[in-house]
Amino acid sequence: MNYNLKKYESEIRKRIGEKRFLHTIRVRDTSIELAKIYHVDVEKAEVAGFLHDCAKIKDKGCLIKKAKENGLLLTREMQKAPQIIHSYLGALFANKFYGIEDEDILNAIAYHTTGRANMSDLEKIIFLADYIEPMRNFDGVEKARELAKKDLDAAMYFALNNTLKFLVERDRYIVPMTVLARNFYKEIDT
Ligand SMILES: [Fe+2]
Ligand SMILES: [Fe+2]
Repeated sequence: MNYNLKKYESEIRKRIGEKRFLHTIRVRDTSIELAKIYHVDVEKAEVAGFLHDCAKIKDKGCLIKKAKENGLLLTREMQKAPQIIHSYLGALFANKFYGIEDEDILNAIAYHTTGRANMSDLEKIIFLADYIEPMRNFDGVEKARELAKKDLDAAMYFALNNTLKFLVERDRYIVPMTVLARNFYKEIDT
């Protein structure tokens, strides 16, 4: 499959803003790097990394309006944790506007924020690339980078655990799928 995403670049750049766009470029490059280590299709990693935040519209009202316009079903979880909406909407946009039909790419975009149990290698790569791209700066990022290059499952466990800690500390709502993902990777990690 030959993906030609160049022609959508300016549209995406305009939709998500310059700062977020530069993040997507870094995530794309990090995804490529990880794909090479784990012998995952580099082109799929490039496409999924590039598109993972293609629906990350800053303004919440505008994001929800777009979601409704495009027929995305807003679940209870999405209403409680609106930061997850852009992932599902991103997968929808990738399919509807950017010609992506590959299920693995679409799932990698859809689950890049929450994670889920039993992810494919591509899904893990996009999740982790988003987590460790070079401009990320938080406690534990170095450890996450090191693990991501050594063991995808161990890196997933570390990242999910850290994310949950972050959410608990800030008293935020936690999407059950992230807890299920964390338990899944705890069990295969140990
Ligand atoms: Fe995102
Ligand atoms: Fe992102």
